[in-house]
Amino acid sequence: TRARIVIDRDFTVGEVPRRLFGSFVEHMGRCVYTGIYEPGHPSADADGLRTDVLELVAEMGPTVVRYPGGNFVSGYRWTDGIGPVEDRPRRLDGAWHTVESNRFGLHEFVGWARKAGVEVMEAINLGTAGVEEARALVEYANHPGGTYWSDLRRANGAEEPFDIRLWCLGNEMDGPWQIGHKTASEYGRLAQETAKAMRLVDPRLELVACGSSNSGMPTFGAWEETVLSHTYEEVDFISLHAYYQEHDGDAASFLASSVDTDHFISRVAATADAVGAKLKSKKQINLSFDEWNVWYQRGLDSEDQPHRIAEQPWREHPRVIEDTYNVTDAVVVGTLLNSLLRHGDRVQIANQAQLVNVIAPIRSEPGGPAWRQSSFHPFARTAALAKGQILQTRVSSDKHPTARFGDVDTVDVSATWDEENGRVALFLANRGLDEAAEVEVELRGLVAGTGATAEVLTTPEGGDRFTANTAEDPARVGLTDLAVGVEDGRVRLTLPALSWACV
Ligand code: AHR
Repeated sequence: TRARIVIDRDFTVGEVPRRLFGSFVEHMGRCVYTGIYEPGHPSADADGLRTDVLELVAEMGPTVVRYPGGNFVSGYRWTDGIGPVEDRPRRLDGAWHTVESNRFGLHEFVGWARKAGVEVMEAINLGTAGVEEARALVEYANHPGGTYWSDLRRANGAEEPFDIRLWCLGNEMDGPWQIGHKTASEYGRLAQETAKAMRLVDPRLELVACGSSNSGMPTFGAWEETVLSHTYEEVDFISLHAYYQEHDGDAASFLASSVDTDHFISRVAATADAVGAKLKSKKQINLSFDEWNVWYQRGLDSEDQPHRIAEQPWREHPRVIEDTYNVTDAVVVGTLLNSLLRHGDRVQIANQAQLVNVIAPIRSEPGGPAWRQSSFHPFARTAALAKGQILQTRVSSDKHPTARFGDVDTVDVSATWDEENGRVALFLANRGLDEAAEVEVELRGLVAGTGATAEVLTTPEGGDRFTANTAEDPARVGLTDLAVGVEDGRVRLTLPALSWACV
């Protein structure tokens, strides 16, 4: 396989939105309890936060973390999670059929976010709650003091406001599974009025309206149009969610999932712009891809899958969708990040779902170790290296056929140019299962130094494409050095079959 890539310093997409490297913590399964928070764990700090997990989060480098849901938020009373822990109510959470102890709430999350060095992206409940609960929460979180809600925050131990800027107006409100599911007009009007009331408390807020739960929803497109026709002047972003998996052993289509992501993003941007045109608005609505990942949702009959959870007795933080990611999944994650970067002019926020245990790059055992899944690595390296300007990429790659997307480029790429550090970063995937790919990169207006380095994630010695990291063997899939040559200003490298690499 061969691929030729051209990048030019003057052909940029825009600045890398650092919020593209977001993650997500939901009160779901063991993401919070025994994930980021486990009092009594040998690594727990005085606040019960797992420092082994915090160290991995620091290495992974998420910039912003969405909280507390997800489907969970649509039945959540945020006031249950504040005040003395012993007084907090235990509630049934219908979204995931669990008992929520509320030992972890807003103050605990803000404390965790500060230690993790991430921005908080707070989701409000627009399923069972509405305007009143939302504006009270903004007053509690962001008002300095001297009012009922802000003084309650201070009485609960937080003298200074939390200063949360980024808010999601509900979660997946188009989904019939959602508690308090709404039609597009019902949701659009509610989101519009809630946004207005929240901004009357704090005008600095940045607000995300719910788009479709996925591009296959029967209402996709019409939902965005109706919701934005109500909320256009009140919100800043419309959300996108997408999960991918391998169906019936069709690895080629699975590895080409980012073709779908590219398409999805273009469609939502076009719909938002069409509404803007109709409204004769000068404003541009950007995109918040606030749930994305690989998630094996169907075909698995294990008891931890959402459709079977309700068969179980009510439990606290059960194991739910703790997918184990292999080499193939990590390559797909790398290509999804490429797609997000290529569209960084419109996709300004993205959150991989989720951070720990629940379809997550980090796994942890109660009382036991924490480790990196294969998918941790492309995220961590892209988050660390993608800085400065996103570069357009001209790719002439050999192609291969796929059942779902027709012929696709075998080599997938995104690139950034960090002028401050004089560094170009290339993120490459070889989606071919059998052949190595010879890649040549021509740089225009940029000089390739001899110090170019590269790392690669591929099938480890003795493994296959399903090889994964486990608690017993946590470093089986990882990054190794890759040879990269610089000749006549061109960068040359060989990507092994089924691999993801950064240069
Ligand atoms: O991330 C898991 C779930 O997927 C979220 O709770 C929901 O928003 C989505 O359907």
